[in-house]
Amino acid sequence: MAGRINDDDVKAVRDAVPIDAVVSEYLQLRNAGGGNLKGLCPFHDEKSPSFQVSPSKGLFHCFGCQEGGDTIAFVMKIDHLTFSETVERLAATAGITLRYEEGGYNPSHQRGERIRLVEAHKIAAQFYIEQLENGPEAETGRKFLAERGFDQAAAQHFSVGYSPQGWDHLTRFLRGKGFSDKELILSGLSQDGRRGPIDRFRGRLMWPIRDISGDVVGFGARKLYESDNGPKYLNTPETGIYKKSQMLYGIDLAKKEIAKTSRAVVVEGYTDVMACHLAGVTTAIATCGTAFGGDHIKILRRLLMDNATAEVIFTFDGDAAGQKAALRAFEDDQKFAAETSIAITPGGMDPCELRLAEGDDAVEKLVETRTPLFEFAIRHSVMRHNLETPAGRRLQVVAHHAVADRELEERG
Ligand code: GTP
Ligand code: MN
Repeated sequence: MAGRINDDDVKAVRDAVPIDAVVSEYLQLRNAGGGNLKGLCPFHDEKSPSFQVSPSKGLFHCFGCQEGGDTIAFVMKIDHLTFSETVERLAATAGITLRYEEGGYNPSHQRGERIRLVEAHKIAAQFYIEQLENGPEAETGRKFLAERGFDQAAAQHFSVGYSPQGWDHLTRFLRGKGFSDKELILSGLSQDGRRGPIDRFRGRLMWPIRDISGDVVGFGARKLYESDNGPKYLNTPETGIYKKSQMLYGIDLAKKEIAKTSRAVVVEGYTDVMACHLAGVTTAIATCGTAFGGDHIKILRRLLMDNATAEVIFTFDGDAAGQKAALRAFEDDQKFAAETSIAITPGGMDPCELRLAEGDDAVEKLVETRTPLFEFAIRHSVMRHNLETPAGRRLQVVAHHAVADRELEERG
């Protein structure tokens, strides 16, 4: 066991980090009167806010599920960290150096697994960035980005990188930084090869995927070479820190704006998120190789609260795949409190292609010209010809309800 963190240092950390600032990273807070703030509880499902924060006392409490405590308790609970992991993370944000009661500094190999895997990802992300910037081999990656309208500044903003070809460049690099083979496999950065661990990602363009707190927890990787017989996009496998059903690419960059504007724009790919943000649509996010599902909705709902004007906008290419994706998204519509709208790109282009062909304005316009789901459902033959599939039948039910709700609303 690592030494105990000095009690005074724990107190210093607690005092240094305001609870409302920490909680606001995860959910939208509103004034609740009496100096308190309120929001939708992140620890249980609810539609009206019973989660209260008292900045002056440094405490939170949920009247719905009775969860409560200080800043440290909040972070422990929401990010599934141990007490010392939490204090270490908060201390790092506040720039406080911790003292340990027995045996000086906490040696890195004794910290919790999450901290180790996050650390490995941080180092890997930096390794991939350096490869993209300086590696001669990475010319293929730089060219791919340039062809899609992304310059060096854009690549840097999203920390895009390049994983070298060859078997174990990253694996050896991380070993040199003190990571064990077991940790490398657990992280998903390496996988078992015939003679020990090898790199999972080889010869690909790398997008680091961050969780809502901003930690890199995985990667999305685009194939660049014909000789690569893997899938076009390869993602981190399910690990202790990467749960694919909960990942939203771009959420770390978009969360503040989503909470502020009560609007989220859901696009399909990593390049689409980049294109949207660069075009000024800074509420754009994407799932990571999965359909948009219930876990994603939960995350968005916390940011949007149960606001009457909250809106989730799905963009789809007008092609067959895009239509299928639209149907998938509708399956979950009933779980939304927010208004769902959809925006179909012209000419079957995705937002990345649209930006390339018609510029930033066209991307912003795409979002502005969205259609509410109910209207889309009425207008679209989708209602008629997809009754063969469960998704199509569900859509019809959803559309039916949406139309009925709207009529009631209009009648007052
Ligand atoms: P390029 O075709 O590379 O320009 O990028 P794109 O983003 O337009 O690709 P596409 O529209 O084909 O895919 C959109 C998103 O779907 C990607 O960002 C991935 O998240 C996901 N995706 C596409 N192909 C695969 C695949 O083979 N495996 C997985 N896991 N996900 C994929
Ligand atoms: Mn696409």
